Amino acid sequence: MARLTAGIGTSHVPLIGVAIDQDKGDDPYFKPVLEAYDWVRDWIKKPENKPDVVVLVYNDHASAFDMDLIPTFAIGCGESYQPADEGWGPRPVPNVKNHSKLAWHIAQSLILDDFDMTIINKMDVDHGLTVPLSAVFDQPREWPVKVIPLAVNVVTYPVPSGNRCWMLGEAIARAVESFPEDLNVQIWGTGGMSHQLQGPRAGLINREFDTAFLDDLTQNPERLRYLPHIEYLREAGSEGIELVMWLIMRGALGASIKELHRAYHVPTSNTALGHIVLENAK
Ligand code: DHB
Ligand code: FE
Repeated sequence: MARLTAGIGTSHVPLIGVAIDQDKGDDPYFKPVLEAYDWVRDWIKKPENKPDVVVLVYNDHASAFDMDLIPTFAIGCGESYQPADEGWGPRPVPNVKNHSKLAWHIAQSLILDDFDMTIINKMDVDHGLTVPLSAVFDQPREWPVKVIPLAVNVVTYPVPSGNRCWMLGEAIARAVESFPEDLNVQIWGTGGMSHQLQGPRAGLINREFDTAFLDDLTQNPERLRYLPHIEYLREAGSEGIELVMWLIMRGALGASIKELHRAYHVPTSNTALGHIVLENAK
């Protein structure tokens, strides 16, 4: 059977992608940013940790969807997805290859489990999905894993609650664990941490909020599960709500987890780099 072995949380800041694409690892600004991923890059290369498939939970930033179409939860079931052109041309990264059979299985399992997923066979994927892949796998010719895109609307209100995200994560775990092939599957939650990109509070970063979020992801996820949107808005800025996507990853791992690694670095563009690696200890 397929096994859900680990979860990774990470910011998906576009500038991290630029730093990797332009080999800026020695630049004093980017050095600590990229070094934050040294640990996970070594860890994931070990055969016992290398996933066959990543369920990559991310949000689109008006690249594939706009006000014409706003799916709350969408799953990519098509064979492959191209990097989006976000205004400067598409990132020089490989296309994302899906594990369509598992993706369709998850879609069916979720829908029969009362989550009405939107199924997307064709779309471009933006920095929300490609930057985490670069952060963890650097610059390969082909991504070394299959990727199931799982897009969440955190851009236009109403966005899903933390509890709904958590429950979706639990349902994803049931779906993965009922797939008959022997696969190592990881789930990644991306976005955050605290940031606000517009208005009078643009530039807001709240280290205290972010650190408590990382602590409670491991130690007190019940608090995060019921944290209201207004609290994210007030404490973590308008874009801090991206963090609800980390709760899909966390909900999928369930009660028994082990924190293997974390990193936090300010500043990273307009936000903090937040990163965590959790092992499923079940
Ligand atoms: C930034 C962060 C994001 O999560 C994003 O989607 C876009 C920009 C930033 O910090 O610049
Ligand atoms: Fe974002």
